[in-house]
Amino acid sequence: MSSPKIMAIAHRGASAYAPENTVAAFDEAVRLAAPAVEFDVRLTADGVPVVLHDATLDRTTSGNGPITAHEWNDLLRLDAGSWFHRRFAGTRIPSLEEALIAIGPSALPIIELKALIDPALLESLLQKHQLLDDALVISFDLAPLRAVRLHTPKISLGLLVEEWSPTLIDTALGVDASHLILDTALLGPERIADIESAGLEVWTYTANDVATIAACASLGVTGIITDRPDLIRRT
Ligand code: G3P
Ligand code: CA
Repeated sequence: MSSPKIMAIAHRGASAYAPENTVAAFDEAVRLAAPAVEFDVRLTADGVPVVLHDATLDRTTSGNGPITAHEWNDLLRLDAGSWFHRRFAGTRIPSLEEALIAIGPSALPIIELKALIDPALLESLLQKHQLLDDALVISFDLAPLRAVRLHTPKISLGLLVEEWSPTLIDTALGVDASHLILDTALLGPERIADIESAGLEVWTYTANDVATIAACASLGVTGIITDRPDLIRRT
């Protein structure tokens, strides 16, 4: 359907088909040959980076309350799959390292920081799994991106955008980001041209149907974050 230049990025894994941000969703993304897999990282009370979208456990797990109020060992007892379908009962919240192992080296890890995680720990995990050159670290917030950039000059960064301002191009360049990642509603030909002429790549989130994917592709984005990576064929 789309141009060969467009990368399909599985959103929270292949989250249309398996519970988001779990190894089951990452395995499904890899099975569907997604070239990249996005997931969300937060911190537990004892400082372990784990994969969870929401700030609280309530929507996607059998637990409740803020993730920051729970230690890693407590999370091992929680079910992060049954809310999606009973066949995923017993699926756990993965740690960041478990996510990296499930995804790499079959696909590129796209790591969204929803908390300020220790950049030295992130670097050492990526180095350990030989993913430092392949990972893209993204965030809506500048603080985590700045911290990672200061510690790891060579890592690739992307700034997520949900509300447009022309100053965002300079903001992204200021942390030496390579990608600006815009909500689909923010895309337009002139805006994309402005971003690209500044030397940044444009990705978009989240396109889950054929018509939206085709519209994004026609605008020339180079990556589409989607719950359904199988809809984007690189043929
Ligand atoms: O990372 C892109 C997209 O995932 C951002 O939105 O809410 O799904 O993290 P959200
Ligand atoms: Ca995300």
